[in-house]
Amino acid sequence: MAMFKLKGCLKILITTLLLQGSYSQEEMEICNKKPLQTKTAPLPPDNRFVLEIVGVDNDYIPNTTYTVRLYAKDEQASFIAFTISATGDQKPNERNPRKPIILEHGRILSSINPDAHDTTTKSVCPDTVFQANVMPKTSVEAQWIAPPKGNKCVTIYAYVAVKPDVWYSSDGPLSKKVCEDHRKNEDMKPPENNDCRVCEEARYELKFEGSWSYNTHPLMYPKTDKEVKFSDIVGASHGKNFILYRDNADASEGLQMLAKQGNTTRLEEEILEMLGDSVRTVIKATGPPKTWMSTVTSFRTSAQHHFISLACAIIPSPDWFLGVYNMELCDVKTGNWATNVVLNLYPMDAGIDSGLTFESSDEATLPPKPIAKADISREVPYDKMRPFAKLIVTLVRTYANPNCIQETFTAPSSTDEEFKPEPPTSPPVVLDPNNEVPDCPVSSWEEWLPCEDECIDGKIDGYQTRFRYHVINGVAIKNFEDENGDANTPEVPEECEEVSTSETRHCEEPCTEQTDEPEAERRIWSDRLKPGQRWSGRN
Ligand SMILES: *[C@@H]1O[C@H](CO)[C@@H](O)[C@H](O)[C@H]1NC(C)=O
Ligand SMILES: *[C@@H]1O[C@H](CO)[C@@H](O)[C@H](O)[C@H]1NC(C)=O
Repeated sequence: MAMFKLKGCLKILITTLLLQGSYSQEEMEICNKKPLQTKTAPLPPDNRFVLEIVGVDNDYIPNTTYTVRLYAKDEQASFIAFTISATGDQKPNERNPRKPIILEHGRILSSINPDAHDTTTKSVCPDTVFQANVMPKTSVEAQWIAPPKGNKCVTIYAYVAVKPDVWYSSDGPLSKKVCEDHRKNEDMKPPENNDCRVCEEARYELKFEGSWSYNTHPLMYPKTDKEVKFSDIVGASHGKNFILYRDNADASEGLQMLAKQGNTTRLEEEILEMLGDSVRTVIKATGPPKTWMSTVTSFRTSAQHHFISLACAIIPSPDWFLGVYNMELCDVKTGNWATNVVLNLYPMDAGIDSGLTFESSDEATLPPKPIAKADISREVPYDKMRPFAKLIVTLVRTYANPNCIQETFTAPSSTDEEFKPEPPTSPPVVLDPNNEVPDCPVSSWEEWLPCEDECIDGKIDGYQTRFRYHVINGVAIKNFEDENGDANTPEVPEECEEVSTSETRHCEEPCTEQTDEPEAERRIWSDRLKPGQRWSGRN
């Protein structure tokens, strides 16, 4: 026995001595992921060892911490050294097609499990975990923190060495490719942006897409002859000082009335009180004709009003509603307006009626409880529930804001190419069919901007302008007065600069005198680009 132990120790000692020489390599500041810095080629994958992401088959939830396990299937075969690391997906790079953009792979860290002391990390190898010693082992663990939303698939892989210079490549059972779980993803609000400095204002379309019917929710649909419906939808685009509701907080009088009676009057009043201050647009849409149909509305956002909140009642129900609060549209990553945000809605409980089923008769909760997830069905736990509706919020257009042209270009703080704010993508350019100079394609005219001048005696007698843009390689070239413009922006050929891209006409319009700022749809039309000045493209 003693002899055996000694032999074991000796083996480790020798192994350690053998490896000593290779430690200096680490000082070379090069990340070598081969186990024990071996110079031999790997053996093909060996089915004795497996890499597993605990609890994940195919889909990961962004920003979630997972345990990664590397182990011998038979719990017998041992290995002395290993490497666990990750690679991110790629997406095409429009600026440089030969250099695709590598997406994030999240973080790989040593396990926090106190029993798993046998991993270590090296500063030259980020997001990679190695053995802490060369003791034979049959299983090790590491942590993987999945990347944020929008990073598609990640491959976690391992190298395993059973002896010095005998190691297996990461193919087959030693690598695992997992992709973002979009269903769960659509359950998550985009992260809030506490520093929204986007210059332009934006208009969004909001589609409320009902997805609740007996067929989709047999255990969660009223057993009634009365009409089953969603109430009108009420909400706002707003800044951080407006609160429609919050989880775990008491419902306002207006929300109580909406949730309990489907009556939107009081909630609308509460929103109107904040209009022009923390509220930019009152969002109002008639409820969809059926609970599996859609309804559409639109709203405006600005750097000060970049959230939306809304709610609608579930009818009949005790006090259940669908809604969202502080849904962020000023994308944290790009600093620009999000082009498309999708969010699933599940029933919430306003905390004022203790009824347990859709048809329950009134039974006031005293004192009221805070807003929480609605406990609708014993058979279907909340996290297995199908959404009752989906919000689809799509950027329609942006409006230049002449008062803050500078800030647009100072807002981005990241130098990483991946995070450069991209201008919002708009629908494909529609060419003006009546263009006078066929060799100089231009987009079709945008809508006329509002008639501008002072409102005198209920009438504006002024001018209004509309724009179109030169189109180069299918991209509409818009003028953003950017002196540091992107060098890749195509130049408008000189002969095409003759083709006018703005038009102004006389207009008369009724108006009401008010102190409110007019909708910021104005643009300085007199301040158009002069020939020779630099063009900067946006699409
Ligand atoms: C995910 O993590 C990033 C970076 O830590 C953070 O900025 C973001 O808010 C998180 N997103 C969600 C949905 O939790
Ligand atoms: C909603 O409530 C208001 C009072 O706050 C009332 O005047 C109105 O008639 C109600 N609307 C409906 C449709 O019941």
